[in-house]
Amino acid sequence: MTTSPIFGCEGICLSLGGRQILDSVSLSVSPGEILGLVGPNGAGKTSLFEVLSGRYEAQSGSVRFRDRDITRIRFPERARMGMARTFQSPVVPGSLTVGETFRAARKAYRPYLSAHDAEWAARLAHLTVSWDRPAASLDTFDRRKLLLACLILRRPAVMLMDEPASGLINTEIDELDLIIRRLVDEYEIAMILIEHRLELLSAIADRVVVLDLGEVIARGAPEEVFQDPRVHAAYFEGVA
Ligand SMILES: Nc1ncnc2c1ncn2[C@@H]1O[C@H](COP(=O)(O)OP(=O)(O)OP(=O)(O)O)[C@@H](O)[C@H]1O
Ligand SMILES: [Mg+2]
Repeated sequence: MTTSPIFGCEGICLSLGGRQILDSVSLSVSPGEILGLVGPNGAGKTSLFEVLSGRYEAQSGSVRFRDRDITRIRFPERARMGMARTFQSPVVPGSLTVGETFRAARKAYRPYLSAHDAEWAARLAHLTVSWDRPAASLDTFDRRKLLLACLILRRPAVMLMDEPASGLINTEIDELDLIIRRLVDEYEIAMILIEHRLELLSAIADRVVVLDLGEVIARGAPEEVFQDPRVHAAYFEGVA
């Protein structure tokens, strides 16, 4: 990967309820790159996404996007600037069909997006269910696909995905790999992916950052990082 970073943070410190959750965390990601973010439960991965997406304000540190300091810019504005984020739980609108969910997403961000854009996004996300189906009736993978398609619609430059493989079976994870790889390769999205399964990250991530108790304890190529004794100690003892 030779392109320069489009998105990243520097020295992020976050305290919540009087506890330090993140301690001087820095990372960056380039267009067309997948950065894996790993670490045991409670390491601070989701909290870092909250800061990166503008939902939490860090006590110190900065967030940059396209050479601009966006530290003080809030979540909706960051979304409009080209950042997208998925959540650990695939929560879909309780009372809308798939088609209505797309319509709401089109209206929320760019009123002029057409139904064709939604069809294009659904294809990219491999979403093949009927658009008349209530979104709440979809299984976990289709919910994730629907939510992903609603984000793809906005043609984000940066995507933060929080455990997108959670709740999926192996064949679905293989398909998710293909979906993500295509988004990154063809559309040059800069992707940060939180994932617990090291074998999945070894296959898909260009680089990884390991968080433990809010601190970065290792970073680099997956095959090297996952051999690091510190990572083994923190990760496997934490996860097992
Ligand atoms: N709103 C909050 N107020 C207080 N503490 C919080 C809050 N959100 C998270 N925490 C704490 O911050 C720490 C990091 O949590 P976080 O959810 O970021 O971890 P994680 O790495 O995403 O874990 P997991 O792998 O289980 O999703 C945990 O100790 C958690 O209890
Ligand atoms: Mg989390």
